[in-house]
Amino acid sequence: MRINDGILGTMTKLFLAHILALPVVAGDLPPVDVFFGTENGGNVFPGAARPFGMARMGVDMVDTKEGSVYSGYAPDGNVAGISMMHESGTGGAPEYGVVAQLPLTKDEDYSKTVSVGRAKADAAEVGNYTVFLSNGVIANFAAAERSGIVEYSFPENASAKVMVNVSHHLRADSRPYWTQNFVEGSANVSSELNAYTGHSTIEGGWANQSPWTIYFCSKFDTPADSVSSYENGNVKNATFVTSNNKSENIGLVFSFPSGTSKLRSKMGISHISTDQACSNIASEINDFDLATVISDAQTAWENEVFSKVTISDSNSTLLQLAYNALYGSHLLPSNKTGENPNWKSSEPYYDDFFTIWDTFRCLNPLLNILNPTRGAEIIRSLTDTYKHVGFTPDGRSANQNGKTQGGSDSDIIFADAFVKDIGGGINWDESYAAMVKNAEVEPPYRLDTFVPGSITNQGRQGISQYKKIGYLSRDYTRSVSKTVEFAYDDFALSVVAKGLHKDDDHEKYLNRSSYWKNLWNKDASSKSCNYTGFLQPRHNNGSWATDKYDPLSCEGCYWANDEYEGRPVEYGWAVPHDIAGLLDLIGDNQTFITRLDDMFGLKGHSYADIGNEPSFLTPYLYNYVNAQSKTVETIRYIINHSYSTGASGLPGNSDAGAMQAYLFFALVGFYPVTGTTTYLISSPFVSNVTFNLDNGAKVSITTSNLSSDSFYVQSVQLNGKDWNKNWFSHDDLFSHGGTLHFNLGTSPVQWDTGVEPPSPGHQN
Ligand SMILES: *[C@@H]1O[C@H](CO)[C@@H](O)[C@H](O)[C@H]1NC(C)=O
Ligand SMILES: *[C@@H]1O[C@H](CO)[C@@H](O)[C@H](O)[C@H]1NC(C)=O
Ligand SMILES: *[C@@H]1O[C@H](CO)[C@@H](O)[C@H](O)[C@H]1NC(C)=O
Ligand SMILES: *[C@@H]1O[C@H](CO)[C@@H](O)[C@H](O)[C@H]1NC(C)=O
Ligand SMILES: *[C@@H]1O[C@H](CO)[C@@H](O)[C@H](O)[C@H]1NC(C)=O
Ligand SMILES: *[C@@H]1O[C@H](CO)[C@@H](O)[C@H](O)[C@H]1NC(C)=O
Ligand SMILES: *[C@@H]1O[C@H](CO)[C@@H](O)[C@H](O)[C@H]1NC(C)=O
Ligand SMILES: *[C@@H]1O[C@H](CO)[C@@H](O)[C@H](O)[C@H]1NC(C)=O
Ligand SMILES: *[C@@H]1O[C@H](CO)[C@@H](O)[C@H](O)[C@H]1NC(C)=O
Ligand SMILES: *[C@@H]1O[C@H](CO)[C@@H](O)[C@H](O)[C@H]1NC(C)=O
Ligand SMILES: *[C@@H]1O[C@H](CO)[C@@H](O)[C@H](O)[C@H]1NC(C)=O
Ligand SMILES: *[C@@H]1O[C@H](CO)[C@@H](O)[C@H](O)[C@H]1NC(C)=O
Repeated sequence: MRINDGILGTMTKLFLAHILALPVVAGDLPPVDVFFGTENGGNVFPGAARPFGMARMGVDMVDTKEGSVYSGYAPDGNVAGISMMHESGTGGAPEYGVVAQLPLTKDEDYSKTVSVGRAKADAAEVGNYTVFLSNGVIANFAAAERSGIVEYSFPENASAKVMVNVSHHLRADSRPYWTQNFVEGSANVSSELNAYTGHSTIEGGWANQSPWTIYFCSKFDTPADSVSSYENGNVKNATFVTSNNKSENIGLVFSFPSGTSKLRSKMGISHISTDQACSNIASEINDFDLATVISDAQTAWENEVFSKVTISDSNSTLLQLAYNALYGSHLLPSNKTGENPNWKSSEPYYDDFFTIWDTFRCLNPLLNILNPTRGAEIIRSLTDTYKHVGFTPDGRSANQNGKTQGGSDSDIIFADAFVKDIGGGINWDESYAAMVKNAEVEPPYRLDTFVPGSITNQGRQGISQYKKIGYLSRDYTRSVSKTVEFAYDDFALSVVAKGLHKDDDHEKYLNRSSYWKNLWNKDASSKSCNYTGFLQPRHNNGSWATDKYDPLSCEGCYWANDEYEGRPVEYGWAVPHDIAGLLDLIGDNQTFITRLDDMFGLKGHSYADIGNEPSFLTPYLYNYVNAQSKTVETIRYIINHSYSTGASGLPGNSDAGAMQAYLFFALVGFYPVTGTTTYLISSPFVSNVTFNLDNGAKVSITTSNLSSDSFYVQSVQLNGKDWNKNWFSHDDLFSHGGTLHFNLGTSPVQWDTGVEPPSPGHQN
């Protein structure tokens, strides 16, 4: 079901359950629409999944209007399979869509892609997905961590068949150079004709992955009457099929006894072996009990995610938006602990960072508040990846580090976890060593011929030059955006170095954290602006690069340009550690405000793209000149104009949940300055929020006088005391619990008279 009709009843039950510490039972789910952000380029995965589960089970659509499907799902087109692995909210080119079944009612031409239309729209709620096929079959499925179960209901008197396409995977037909391809595979049926095992090896995808393998194991609750295999449409009576020919298309077709109306199948996956795929089923799914797998998934969501935040408001649209945001920010990365085919380790193993460049700004900080256990496992896994691969990734999927868009931004989530002291057994000496490697060692060169300029899968390409001359010159692609990120990454090192009492390193990296200023040209101008001073690319001899330079343009903002997915005017703000330094360069508070006013469309100009991450923090920066009411106005404007409930509710790609985390923070009224302990205060959209944190702390955020036109902060009380700063620190609320109360009104007042937010990277 898309919309929970008993919202208020459910909320009351949830609220009581939390207050009385009653066990939470499935069915008490908050109002989540799993289709939120699936359309309009959001690419969110709506299928059956657990928080961070390796199995994300969903439909794979072909013949859709949009062409490539990134999460497998599209509202239109035909179903080519129900498969076990997907990403959520990614771009570039699709990954996964592997280990599939497709229920059929007749034999087909297996020489080409077999697919079936829908009879009506899919129905889904958290942990429970149903697709209604035009051949009359209804498939209801649910996922555990590394396995899933599907129940097919066949129409009366129809033949009951299941196709297992061993070659199945998502494709990027519009970007054939990045599409995934089948490499080789096999499948073998048990002698009772009620089970099969096999593997499929795939290559390609967004990061040009080298061949990687997924093993599968599947069981039916009813033995088949007969099984055939196909190899490029050539059908044989056989229970085994194999191919190592990349152009081949192989699979099995199971035919069940006539009269079969319900058929259940369990599917297990593993990167290690078919045996492990089978044992993943055995340890996760009892009998063929779909209802229990559904309720276990819902309980997992409740325990790990929804029970952490109780939101109340009389506006059901806002409630749904907030819970949608919470849901969508807990899908990726994937916990593949025990499923790492590349090295043996006792450390946690996470894959599907797609990408840290997107998530470091607010998704990882959200986990560090709500879910420090995950936060710490992620840090440990990134550290272990450094130990065995040589570098932490920026993007990683299919067990391989992928393209790096900017800096080594894992450094920033490390610093965030460090300053928030999230616990969880992180070995900080090793994690810091990973950060130093990023900051000091040139990563190996790896050319992606289809995006000249994308030439490394990890670390900081160009670091040697940056260290030598204090910036990345136009010798390198994305030199402006990378210099800015390298400086922020260096700040992250300085923070951890300080905490580990490495004083020389602290000084060194703090000094480097101001290198972004070396690309600030105080004379750079644009005819559209009355102010001067912008980031500008530079040659390696120190002179400014002027060819094709305009602070309001990025010439495509892609791999081979000076800035990646943002213009110079946007990246100028992207120095969260040193806003005081930026204010010095800009000159005065009023110009700082005028420039911010030009960013988001409130005053006509709209130089920032809020559908992308580089400008995430920017609307909150008014707080640094104690103009908090403008932060409130701008965030109100952005959320009201760019986000809504429904499948098209996100302003573009979810980016692995980054957009949802952004929305969540906006709705609850504060935003993290990642890598520091500071949170900037805005103004909540929902009247009450309670965080029930893992450390036992309870944090309540309450409001008075909130309405759709009464949202300007009049005064704030933090932990019961009047508070005149427009920011607070992690310790103020999240270490031991606390309260934050907002008195709201219809017009702005200057309530934030206290000291402005810190700029810990500031140096004169
Ligand atoms: C199996 O999947 C591959 C890759 O998606 C596709 O090319 C092929 O046509 C499919 N085969 C069938 C019989 O659907
Ligand atoms: C199924 O077959 C039985 C026996 O032939 C017949 O009585 C019944 O009408 C059929 N049902 C449908 C829906 O075709
Ligand atoms: C297929 O599985 C059967 C057991 O069901 C086994 O005896 C046979 O060796 C397997 N064949 C291959 C090629 O793996
Ligand atoms: C192969 O075909 C024969 C005769 O058509 C049938 O009896 C047998 O069940 C089939 N075997 C399999 C494994 O499908
Ligand atoms: C691979 O399969 C294609 C398509 O069936 C065929 O044309 C080709 O000859 C095969 N190559 C080999 C080496 O078998
Ligand atoms: C799963 O969803 C389907 C379709 O909406 C519904 O009929 C079924 O009752 C749900 N299953 C559970 C266990 O809630
Ligand atoms: C918000 O919380 C306060 C204090 O717990 C409570 O009195 C009030 O009823 C709550 N408001 C809503 C809308 O739930
Ligand atoms: C509920 O919130 C939505 C989203 O902010 C808003 O559009 C709508 O007007 C609100 N409804 C009421 C009754 O206030
Ligand atoms: C991640 O997976 C491992 C192996 O299944 C499990 O032990 C661990 O608890 C999982 N992590 C979390 C936070 O659930
Ligand atoms: C950083 O170090 C360099 C070289 O020692 C020095 O010239 C510069 O002034 C330092 N910068 C800051 C901001 O301390
Ligand atoms: C620049 O300043 C002038 C004079 O104040 C004003 O008329 C004009 O609109 C400003 N232009 C922009 C782009 O803000
Ligand atoms: C600029 O804003 C800051 C923060 O409110 C304030 O401390 C400072 O005095 C202001 N500067 C001027 C010149 O008004």
